[in-house]
Amino acid sequence: MREEELEGLRVRVSRCRRCGLWRTRTQTVFGSGPAFPRLVLVGEAPGAQEDEEGLPFVGAAGKLLTSLLLSAGLRREGVYITNVLKCRPPGNRTPLPEEVEACRPHLEEQLRILGPSLVVSLGRVAASTLLGRPVELSREHGRVLDCRFAGRSFSLFPTYHPAAALYSGKNRSRLEEDFRRLRELLT
Ligand code: URA
Repeated sequence: MREEELEGLRVRVSRCRRCGLWRTRTQTVFGSGPAFPRLVLVGEAPGAQEDEEGLPFVGAAGKLLTSLLLSAGLRREGVYITNVLKCRPPGNRTPLPEEVEACRPHLEEQLRILGPSLVVSLGRVAASTLLGRPVELSREHGRVLDCRFAGRSFSLFPTYHPAAALYSGKNRSRLEEDFRRLRELLT
């Protein structure tokens, strides 16, 4: 069963020491959502509040994400939310390439179990990790790309990270526009 497979992976991830981030984490942040989601969202890495609570996108960026999802006609409970890294980088710095590599098998396994047909990546790190190449979001956001990751194919919809929109009106309008596009794609 999918739920059991996810739970088994969650327990394995909670014991992970594949990179040095285990030393500074409070706990791992595996992901949350139904085992049969409408779509999967992939962010970058847990922040301070996520590290405290063990859940993805529960801080300020998460609140914005919840309202963006609603604007696309999606309830948060209907989608699966996770991150490229399952541990918080100290001071919320950008993940190091070796941390992304160390954590990649967890995301691969998670996506294998969930088998999504549509994935929304939030920010450059998530888009580049899934596409396996450098991504310039200003050129590639807000459209559907073919993605092959860990031997599986799905549609990838790259957009900006909600945290980047918290203090920039321009990023916020671009993000809002992308989620309106997402709504059109889903209807
Ligand atoms: N930023 C992310 O990329 N992920 C979270 O879970 C929270 C903030």
